[in-house]
Amino acid sequence: MPTARMTIDPHFTVGPIRRNLFGGFVEHLGRHVYDGIYEPGHETADAEGFRQDVIELVRELGVATIRYPGGNFVSGFKWEDSVGPREERPRRLDLAWHSTETNEVGMHEFRSWLDKVGSDLMLAVNLGTRGTAEALDLLEYANFPGGTALSDRRIANGEKDPFDVKIWCLGNEMDGPWQIGHRSADDYGKIASQTAKAMRQLDPRVELVACGSSSAHMPTFGEWERVVLHHTYDDVDYISCHAYYEAKDGDIGSFLASAVDMDGFIDTVVKTADHVGAVRGSSKKIDISFDEWNVWYQRRFHDEERMTGIENWPVAPRLLEDHYSVVDAVVFGNLMISLLKHADRVTTASLAQLVNVIAPIMTEPGGPAWRQTTFFPFSITSRLARGEALELKLDAPTYETAEYGEVPLVDAVATRDPETGEAAVFLVNRSQSEQLELSIDVAGLGDVTVRETHTISDDDIHAKNTLDDRERVAPKANASARISDGTLTVTLPAVSWTALSLG
Ligand code: AHR
Repeated sequence: MPTARMTIDPHFTVGPIRRNLFGGFVEHLGRHVYDGIYEPGHETADAEGFRQDVIELVRELGVATIRYPGGNFVSGFKWEDSVGPREERPRRLDLAWHSTETNEVGMHEFRSWLDKVGSDLMLAVNLGTRGTAEALDLLEYANFPGGTALSDRRIANGEKDPFDVKIWCLGNEMDGPWQIGHRSADDYGKIASQTAKAMRQLDPRVELVACGSSSAHMPTFGEWERVVLHHTYDDVDYISCHAYYEAKDGDIGSFLASAVDMDGFIDTVVKTADHVGAVRGSSKKIDISFDEWNVWYQRRFHDEERMTGIENWPVAPRLLEDHYSVVDAVVFGNLMISLLKHADRVTTASLAQLVNVIAPIMTEPGGPAWRQTTFFPFSITSRLARGEALELKLDAPTYETAEYGEVPLVDAVATRDPETGEAAVFLVNRSQSEQLELSIDVAGLGDVTVRETHTISDDDIHAKNTLDDRERVAPKANASARISDGTLTVTLPAVSWTALSLG
């Protein structure tokens, strides 16, 4: 059995873990909102039509801030359509997903749903078909206490208190040719800077996110960030990163190393941002909002699914409904390890997405809701990763991948809450054939014991939870974990993700 060694020392911290790292994303896309979180006829629906079984699962998942309402959807969105009396709200064509948006669920309903699931709102403004003026209107509607036309309209629509939205995204994926209103970095940087300055004049408390690249594999990657930040450095707090991973052509070895790519993506954006700061002689640091990340089988998603002809604009079609396997959950858990390893600069993140659409939670209309395999690494990490992320010393064997060259078989991060002394370790074994024994020097953590152990692995790495077999995959306790003389030993099965909590 291969072995690996690691040392955890609470003196070596990466940075504080902010709750916003465990954010989510709800887009008006497919069956996410309609027939997902909202299904008035469902047996669990509350008075507002929200499924309570879904609310329970979102609460269990432990999601901090939720980005809304898109995604690509936001680049054609008129926020005014989504407020006011429901019967007066217009039905609109959503060009991004070739669907009909009924606006039955709008800003106020979503805000109410957020209270039920215990999450905060993060809004994106439309910089595709719209601009600074409409962004200001929305900010006034949402955050201004009252006594002006738009804030009074919010009050008349039933919400006396301001929404107090703290984090705002300045558009979505404006580097992508598929985006409505796609621009060059120079053009986007100018409009983003102008909009950010105006928004801060209205509400100086807001935190603003400039669009970074929609993937590290965009031809403009790097230069896009440099130019956009050149325009917006003094006006924004974050630059965004988006990344989706999938097993390409059955290459599981490379897929299991996806977090290596995510690590490199983050490091490059941090260096680019710091370069712009250095050139400007600025002491300000720009953080990363990793506001779209997940496993997504994009190659399985064909445009014909969406482009259904001029006469056919369905309401809530089944789009992007990936069904996740054990290996997907292992990669997903590893992406969370990557985010935690960069907690000093990645200070907010949004899992894309939450329900039905590339989601940890699935629903069937008139039927049950259930947890996908990816639900578990998210809920467990969100619950156990507290305090500070720690820098580790890790000595592990390596293996060769087609996409990323030689990579370690093990990836890991540890966290510790300095107030309670409680710690957690998150681990993956990327080997497809062998279990691995890991020894961790935990002497620096004091006299700790193993409290909880959770491992996701299976003889069938392609096993999934489906409508017919909703509990096929779940984390199991890992009985091998024990501490003796300041050393924690644990056996990690092949293709596995593990979380240990120590206290
Ligand atoms: O999450 C699905 C889509 O992926 C989003 O709408 C878009 O921002 C990204 O390309």
